[in-house]
Amino acid sequence: MPNTALFECQSCGSKYPKWKGQCEACHEWNTLVETKPIKENKLKYNYNQESTAQALAEVVQEPVFYYKTNITELDRVLGEGLVKGSIVLLGGEPGIGKSTLSLQACQECAKQSMKVLYISAEESEAQIKSRAMRLDNGKIAETLWVFSQTNMMAIIKECERLDPDIVLLDSIQVVQHPELSSLEGTVSQVRHCATTLINWVKAHNKSAIVIGHITKDGQIAGPKVLEHLVDAILYLEGDRHFQNRILRCHKNRYGSTDHIGLFEMKENGLIPIKDPSQAFIETSQDASPGSVIVPYTQGNRVILLEIQALVIESGYGMAKRNFVGINPNRANLLIAALDKLCYLKLSAHDIFLTVIGGFSITDPSADLAIAVALISSLKQQSVIDRVGICGEVGLTGEIRPVSHIDKRLIELKKCGFSGGIIPKKNALSPKNLDQFRYHQVSYIKDVLHYIFMKDYEKQHA
Ligand SMILES: Nc1ncnc2c1ncn2[C@@H]1O[C@H](COP(=O)(O)OP(=O)(O)OP(=O)(O)O)[C@@H](O)[C@H]1O
Ligand SMILES: [Mg+2]
Repeated sequence: MPNTALFECQSCGSKYPKWKGQCEACHEWNTLVETKPIKENKLKYNYNQESTAQALAEVVQEPVFYYKTNITELDRVLGEGLVKGSIVLLGGEPGIGKSTLSLQACQECAKQSMKVLYISAEESEAQIKSRAMRLDNGKIAETLWVFSQTNMMAIIKECERLDPDIVLLDSIQVVQHPELSSLEGTVSQVRHCATTLINWVKAHNKSAIVIGHITKDGQIAGPKVLEHLVDAILYLEGDRHFQNRILRCHKNRYGSTDHIGLFEMKENGLIPIKDPSQAFIETSQDASPGSVIVPYTQGNRVILLEIQALVIESGYGMAKRNFVGINPNRANLLIAALDKLCYLKLSAHDIFLTVIGGFSITDPSADLAIAVALISSLKQQSVIDRVGICGEVGLTGEIRPVSHIDKRLIELKKCGFSGGIIPKKNALSPKNLDQFRYHQVSYIKDVLHYIFMKDYEKQHA
């Protein structure tokens, strides 16, 4: 390939010989950036010429070795800890706490006498030191090394010299490979720098955590192939107006992606939340119209979440919709189903829905709670008693069963709730549920009848 300029799409990585306003592959505008192709001989990867294929039956199984970070919530999300020989990609919005969490993990690992190299392409050594002093009351582990560098080859050289067990790179979008002329953060730079680090880590059986910036759509910036190259992808999420941070696992080659980690941002760093069920509830004992509690599960963990709805008559022709922490497609679908099934005229109302505490709902088991919150706000009537509500709502109004129903009810009981509204189709083994009232429902209309009894009967008599 001649060594002439190429134009590369920063969204999907497609290459063009000429500049264009719009990428033909992903249809994004203004994403083409001039870049020089890498010379053929530099693209060749090292490989061991003596290696041959093995019969799977004869492959010797090696036990997975975990580096415990001793940050319980982080270890839980990773499986049991950071796997030796693996690369973890940590993404999140600016200022959410990626550097803080990774520095904490590095400190904890170094305290266990592991050699840790913290490479920052964004901050100076002095900045990292002042953060480390703040996080651990001035105590700094002896085997924690810091290196402020943006040149990828200098980073690899330092890794070779120091031979650390764990390498942290903050962040992949800011380092630059000297073999490429393109700017840091471009698709080719990110891909080439990541491959260089991954090759070193895998060849030496070390572990690495790589921090990645995210795009405005919430995806890790750079080529999609980066997500395939790494062993695990974690996202640190949260609403910047709240202290709560949620660590989610998007991919894990060594364990389940079901687990979440819950942290609170404090002066001394990200501290695991002790009582998650209280962290996401704002309304006190007296329920207000529009507020509903849902026992929500993530993996095998139950968290009580508060959903708040505000439904008001629309002053303009086009009704406003605003959803925080709820998938807009799912919310719009529920609103349309409620409108049709319960004659509510929601299309003429502005609707605002929020999950308290910066949590994002990804599971349809909160459908029923969202529906009840909407009707509660519309009718200005709070939910009778303090009950937790869960169930998936179908388009015809049927309430579908949800997973881990026993655990959900036990958590409600433990947190002092008087009862629960759950799907009829859920089979229950009511041990540990003495004196806890739960009501089972089959259709959305049954729920309205049960909760907003008087109003509903008056209207539909
Ligand atoms: N002295 C402090 N006390 C309490 N919280 C602090 C203090 N200093 C920083 N923070 C918190 O730490 C956050 C910054 O964390 P951090 O630098 O780890 O984020 P980041 O995700 O690495 O950001 P970036 O993408 O900009 O690198 C701030 O938004 C703030 O909430
Ligand atoms: Mg940072």
